[in-house]
Amino acid sequence: MTAAVSCRVAVVGAGYVGLTTAVCLAHLGHEVRCSDRDATRVELLNSGGTPIYEDGLEDLIRTGLASGHLAFRTDNTWAVEGAEFTLLCVPTPEGPDGWPDMSFIETVATEIGPHLADESIVVNKSTVPVGSADVVGRVLGRSDVQVVSNPEFLREGLAVHDFLHPDRIVIGALDEETAVRVSGLFAGIDAPVIFTDPSTAETIKYASNAFLATKVSFVNAVAALCEAVGADIRQVCIGMGLDPRIGSSFLRPGPGWGGSCLPKDSAGLVRIAEEAGYDFSLLKGVIAVNEEQYDRVVRKAVRLAGGSLTGARVALWGVTFKARTDDLRCSPALEIARRLVQAGATVAAYDPTLTGPLEGIEVAADAYAACEGASVIVLATEWEEFRWLDFDKVGNAMARRAIVDARNLLDPAVLRRAGFGYEGIGIL
Ligand SMILES: NC(=O)c1ccc[n+]([C@@H]2O[C@H](COP(=O)([O-])OP(=O)(O)OC[C@H]3O[C@@H](n4cnc5c(N)ncnc54)[C@H](O)[C@@H]3O)[C@@H](O)[C@H]2O)c1
Repeated sequence: MTAAVSCRVAVVGAGYVGLTTAVCLAHLGHEVRCSDRDATRVELLNSGGTPIYEDGLEDLIRTGLASGHLAFRTDNTWAVEGAEFTLLCVPTPEGPDGWPDMSFIETVATEIGPHLADESIVVNKSTVPVGSADVVGRVLGRSDVQVVSNPEFLREGLAVHDFLHPDRIVIGALDEETAVRVSGLFAGIDAPVIFTDPSTAETIKYASNAFLATKVSFVNAVAALCEAVGADIRQVCIGMGLDPRIGSSFLRPGPGWGGSCLPKDSAGLVRIAEEAGYDFSLLKGVIAVNEEQYDRVVRKAVRLAGGSLTGARVALWGVTFKARTDDLRCSPALEIARRLVQAGATVAAYDPTLTGPLEGIEVAADAYAACEGASVIVLATEWEEFRWLDFDKVGNAMARRAIVDARNLLDPAVLRRAGFGYEGIGIL
């Protein structure tokens, strides 16, 4: 893939979105300068390493550095000097009242405003509340610079693939010429492009994440119903998902949704709606069902451990918010672990990507070690390797053979034959 016209691009923020964006744009043939305030991160990147776990990312970093198309520094002004496009990829975490915290964006905009090239374009790739393009424009203080919204839809774990093969590219600009200029960045990528205004683009991003959260909460609620009426959620999902109006994607029950985006973006949309005078009660219900789901998993663990977790050991398999990522932000596994500890348990966790310690949780070297003396296992992340364990060895290490399979990853019949008390989600 090569860009039709190579552009000078600045990317500010080298996290999941910024780093993926920078390396993929360099891969497409653009000249990319990427800055991040984290010096350790920049040093690692310049040595060809990657601070995040994403398939294919390290190869693209090395190729980009070797070709001279990609460079990293801690200096945002160096990145934007002479750049036709500046892409903002800094965090927008949930603020204390649910409203997205815009301080990272505003700090960067204040800093780079005077250094931007004449007639250049600033692109918000961060997820920002409706109306933010105007806010950023004001903070930049540059009447010659247009601010465009180009929300990112990549999935962690598949970030490089999703950037290069997106379902859609949304460009929210105030005029067509600016939108067309931004679309040139993605020349070589085959995807529908939606040209719209900035507020609509910003709304598309929030509504998409809120809808995904809704789908998962809905299926978790149906799973709870399945348990009550004696139905099997796995077949319910197949039966529903074959209807193309519903679709099978994201129609999987689990421990509740989490990660760096769905929780903050759902809370953000509730607040954005509130601010605009609309009570988004549907989305409030979606969030409440998700909180309940964490508790449902804990109640299953209590049941299987014999009625109480006081003084019990619990093995936690998986701590990342989903498989194929090392991201722990708002992970359901950690929400559940916190509740298990509150219920009196000692939690020993294992995750294939875990390198550091976890507050209040023991970290085990492997899945077997996590089970030593445990009264119950909670499988919280769908890592493939959990399917292929020797469950007799697992059972022998435990004080009691019991497992809550919060991802419906394992075969209940096999586990029950091996003498395990088994509970999945929505499975009898
Ligand atoms: N992670 C995802 O899957 C995803 C997907 C779509 C959209 N988003 C949105 O993209 C934005 C970024 O998310 P992320 O997951 O990449 O965050 P991240 O925390 O992984 O990365 C942000 C990076 O910005 C850097 N940074 C912060 N302040 C800076 C400054 N003043 N100057 C230079 N660098 C600075 C941080 O050091 C960090 O490396 C958020 O708005 C998020 O909602 C994330």
